[in-house]
Amino acid sequence: MSQRRPPADKADKLVAAGYERHQAGDIAGASEFYARALRMRPNHADALHLSGLTERAQGRHDEAFARIERACRLAPGNAPFEANRAAALVTLGRPAEALAAADAAVTFDARFAPGHANRAAALSALGREDEAAQEYQRALALDPTGLDALNNLANLEQRRGNLDAACTLYERALALAPHHPHIHSNYGTAIYALHFSGRGEEAARRAQNWLERFPDSPTARHWAAALAGAEAPPRAEDGYVRGAFDLFAATFDSTLASVGYRTPDAIKRLLEENIGEVSPRFDILDAGCGTGLAGIVLRGWAKRLEGVDISTGMLEHARARGIYDDLRASELVADLLAHRDSYDLIVAADVFCYFGVLDELLAATHAGLRPGGRVAFSTETMLDDETGDWKVRPSGRYAHARRYVEQAVAKAGFTPIEWSVESPRAEDGKPIPGLLVMAVK
Ligand SMILES: C[S@@+](CC[C@H](N)C(=O)[O-])C[C@H]1O[C@@H](n2cnc3c(N)ncnc32)[C@H](O)[C@@H]1O
Repeated sequence: MSQRRPPADKADKLVAAGYERHQAGDIAGASEFYARALRMRPNHADALHLSGLTERAQGRHDEAFARIERACRLAPGNAPFEANRAAALVTLGRPAEALAAADAAVTFDARFAPGHANRAAALSALGREDEAAQEYQRALALDPTGLDALNNLANLEQRRGNLDAACTLYERALALAPHHPHIHSNYGTAIYALHFSGRGEEAARRAQNWLERFPDSPTARHWAAALAGAEAPPRAEDGYVRGAFDLFAATFDSTLASVGYRTPDAIKRLLEENIGEVSPRFDILDAGCGTGLAGIVLRGWAKRLEGVDISTGMLEHARARGIYDDLRASELVADLLAHRDSYDLIVAADVFCYFGVLDELLAATHAGLRPGGRVAFSTETMLDDETGDWKVRPSGRYAHARRYVEQAVAKAGFTPIEWSVESPRAEDGKPIPGLLVMAVK
C-alpha cells in the first residue's frame, strides 16, 4: 500500500530545487525556494543553512550568521554548517569565535577542505599568518580546486610580500575560474607589486602571458598595457574599473590616506578661491564619487549633491556617509549625457586618470552643466621625456600631457579659469606631478 508523502518531503524537494538554482548562481531564485521550504518547516536545518549562504551572498551578514547558527544548533556535529558559521564570524569581525567554530568543523570531518580553508581565514584574521598559510595548504592538499582557498592564500602571500607564490596561486585560480573578476583584479595588484619591487621585466612577462591566456579579460588588457607595452585602450574599460574598485572599496580610504591623497583638499582651496564662501547654493555632481572623499568637501557648497560611480562597492561606502542627496551606479559619460543641463558644478577628483582620450568625457561634462556652470577636475601629468597626448602608467592610471588637456578643454567649449600644478598623491614616497583645472561653460 502506497504511503502519503509527509509534508517534510515537500520541504526537502523545495530545498533541492533551491540548491540547483544556487549552484547555477541564481541567488534570488534559490533564496525563494529556501524561504518556501522554511515556511513549510521552519526548523529545516539544511534550508536554514543554505538560506544563510544566500543571505551572505547578498551582503546581509547578521541575518546570514543567525540562520547558519540556528542550523548548527538544530543539527550538531555537521562540518559544513560549522565551517560556514566560522566564515560568517570572520566576516562579522569575530575571529576568535570563528576559529572555535572552524576547530569544531575539522574535528567533525578532518577531510572537509572548506573547514580547513575557513580555519585558515580565522587564523589570518587573528594575525597568525604562518599558521594560516599552513592551514590553507592543508585545505588545498584535500581539494586542489578550492577556489576560495587559492585566492585567499594568494592574497595572504601577497600581503606578506611573497609575490612569486602569490602570482603562481592566482594563476592556478584563474585556470579554474577564467572569468572571475576578483581574481583577475587581485592578480593585477600582485603583478603591479612585482613591478614596484624593482622586478619590472618579470612583471611585464607575467602581464604579457596573462593577456595571451585571457585576451577577453579587461583587467589583463589593462595591466598588459600598463606594464608590458600592449596597446592601451582609449579609456580604462568598465569591467576593469568596476572590478578594481569593487575590490579596493573596503580599504580605499585608509590606502589613500597612506599615499598622501590630497585632491579633495586641493579642490576645497580651488572652490574657496573661485566660487567664494561656503554656503549651500549649487547643484553639484561628484563625478566618480568613489567612497565620497571629495563629497565631504563639496557638501558645504551643495544645495543638492549627487554622486555617480561605476563601482557599487565604492558607492556602498559613499552611501554610509549620508551626505549625498542621490547616488547612482552608472558609467560616467553615459550618466552625464542622461543628465543634460543639470548641474552648476561638476567635480571629478582623481577620475580623469581612468581616461586616456578626454574628448567624450569633456563633451559629456559640458552637456551636464548649465550655462555658466563649472567643472573642476584633476589629472596626472606626463613627464617631460614622455611623448604623446596620454599614456597608461605602470600604476595603471592614465597620465596626460598638459598641452593635450588644454586643447581638449578648449575643444569641448570650456573657458579655463584656473590651472594649478598640484600633485594628487605620492608614489614610492615622491609626489607625482598633476594638474587641477577649473573651467566654465
Ligand atoms: C581614485 S577613485 C576617486 C574617488 C573620489 N572621487 C575621491 O576623490 O576619493 C576613482 C573613482 O572613479 C570611478 N570611475 C572611474 N571611471 C569611471 C567611469 N567611467 N564611470 C564611473 N565611475 C568611474 C571609480 O569607480 C572610482 O570610484
